[in-house]
Amino acid sequence: MQTLSQISTLFDTYLIDNQFNRTPHALYQPIDYILSLGGKRLRPALLTMSCNLFSENVTKSLPAAFAIEVFHNFSLVHDDIMDEAPIRRGKPTVHHKYGINTGILSGDVMLIYAYKYLIWEELGQNLKPIIEIFNQIATEVCEGQQMDMDFERREDVTIDEYLLMIEYKTAVLLAGAMQIGALIGGGSVADAAHLYAFGRDIGLAFQLQDDVLDTYGDPEKFGKKVGGDIIQNKKTYLVLKTMELSSPDVAEALRQHLSASTNNETEKIKAVMSIFDACDVRKHAEILMESYCKSAFAHLDAVEVAEDRKSVLRQIANELMMREH
Ligand code: IPE
Ligand code: IPE
Ligand code: MG
Ligand code: MG
Ligand code: MG
Repeated sequence: MQTLSQISTLFDTYLIDNQFNRTPHALYQPIDYILSLGGKRLRPALLTMSCNLFSENVTKSLPAAFAIEVFHNFSLVHDDIMDEAPIRRGKPTVHHKYGINTGILSGDVMLIYAYKYLIWEELGQNLKPIIEIFNQIATEVCEGQQMDMDFERREDVTIDEYLLMIEYKTAVLLAGAMQIGALIGGGSVADAAHLYAFGRDIGLAFQLQDDVLDTYGDPEKFGKKVGGDIIQNKKTYLVLKTMELSSPDVAEALRQHLSASTNNETEKIKAVMSIFDACDVRKHAEILMESYCKSAFAHLDAVEVAEDRKSVLRQIANELMMREH
């Protein structure tokens, strides 16, 4: 059984050994740039830890872990274009540094490389199910991203619609990473499904925390532009729950703020935050996160391996809830 730090070291070494250092540099350099900025490397860790629940041979999960991380970074490169985001991981986003066209094309080739690495190892009879899981989650990520953008221009988004949107854009990738890891490790289909559900519930809590940090995070630690969601009129949980909790007048004021663009970003962020704070909406988001965490742990309980093998997953889930970046 590997510790979290051993798994991180294995993955970081694999990443360095598989740099995209090739020509044309204008296409591949931005990929090494975004990958070199790090990030939490959460999805590969979850994939490899899921493999390690069932197998001591974690090396065989590294190509798939890399594939998932490359896919994740591809989705971020394109997401930053869509969200007009200037900063990621404390550094300029790919399209700010290299231009939008490069962001599009480097992102495209990353998606192709994700597939290349997914089928890199001899996965035997697991190959087809793994590709099918990946196709499903990759499609849902795109669907979630479209819903997220559609919601920017809608004023009647429900909390249920929001929850489906974040399940697709974020949670299914954590879920699928764990399901794939479990299958590579030789886990049963039933255990792999429980790990999918654990990853999904953790992923829902993870995106809720991302929304909270986007408004309340410390810019130094968060690594992204704080207040970006408010500026983009994103219909986050903070917005939708505030609408539900507030009087009609206050809800209407919030709707007004989030249906227009502004020249004064600081003022807009301040005004929206004071409406959020008046109903203590951050607390409500945290309560929902906790309930997803509880549900995630119930799925982990159901996985049929010795309890001590699961402790590293419990540790990572608990750490994620406290994260500041
Ligand atoms: C950012 O994911 C996109 C979301 C789903 C919120 P992460 O917060 O995992 O980003 P990195 O990889 O650690 O930078
Ligand atoms: C990102 O959601 C989800 C995907 C990239 C698929 P966000 O737009 O909230 O992610 P950040 O906050 O930019 O990392
Ligand atoms: Mg986005
Ligand atoms: Mg974004
Ligand atoms: Mg976000």
